[in-house]
Amino acid sequence: MLKIENLSCNYRQIIALSDVSLHINRGEIVSLIGANGAGKTTLLRAISGLQNTKKGKIYFEGSDIAKLESHDIAKLGIVQIPEGRGLFSILSVEENLRLGAYIRSDKDVQNDIEKIYIQFPILKEKRKEYAGTLSGGQQQMVAVGRALMSRPKLLLLDEPSMGLAPIVVEEIFRAIKELRDKGTTIFIVEQNAFLALSITDRAYVLENGKIVMSGNSNELLRDERVKEAYLGA
Ligand SMILES: Nc1ncnc2c1ncn2[C@@H]1O[C@H](COP(=O)(O)OP(=O)(O)OP(=O)(O)O)[C@@H](O)[C@H]1O
Ligand SMILES: [Mg+2]
Repeated sequence: MLKIENLSCNYRQIIALSDVSLHINRGEIVSLIGANGAGKTTLLRAISGLQNTKKGKIYFEGSDIAKLESHDIAKLGIVQIPEGRGLFSILSVEENLRLGAYIRSDKDVQNDIEKIYIQFPILKEKRKEYAGTLSGGQQQMVAVGRALMSRPKLLLLDEPSMGLAPIVVEEIFRAIKELRDKGTTIFIVEQNAFLALSITDRAYVLENGKIVMSGNSNELLRDERVKEAYLGA
């Protein structure tokens, strides 16, 4: 579904990504783990068309999207939930959900909002409240729900566990796993390597802008280098 070949990105003199190659198969849930400043967000932004690339190819369903504008990439079905969630805090929960459907022209929007409420019942209770007044976990649910409203083929998640209490993180990750089980392909960026490796099929490890390891998530969980560098063992 997604294939990245030798992607490099710079911020002036800073090399953020260097010759990154990876792929994501349809229906898979894949994670990218790496320390602070490794280049994870830069990679997601490059896929979404929010970040200029220096060289390399990004193929989505066979065509190179590396030079497309972000709104055209969104129309192809790639949707990113940014670090920090990117909600409109002075719009209501339901207005935020509705905004996720802005690229759609069909009439099923209300129906899909009801489905989001089934998945996250608390959002139905809070549907008229400003998104900015919700707890961090509830805001992350709105962010996931809003992304789903666009009916994405590929969902990109940037650090969904950031700033959330462990019990809330569990709930969010359960929801993410359910999405995959329903057929959405997911690429998830996380500093919390244990969580990421626990729910994904495969993973890539990014260090200083380079992919240094990749493999099945449960194998990486047992890998001595991964344990030492990312699992605090
Ligand atoms: N707008 C920018 N201008 C200059 N340098 C930047 C900019 N954004 C990121 N960088 C640098 O690029 C590198 C990669 O940053 P990036 O945000 O992609 O890392 P990350 O893995 O997402 O980190 P974090 O875990 O903190 O979110 C870092 O060295 C960072 O300082
Ligand atoms: Mg980041």
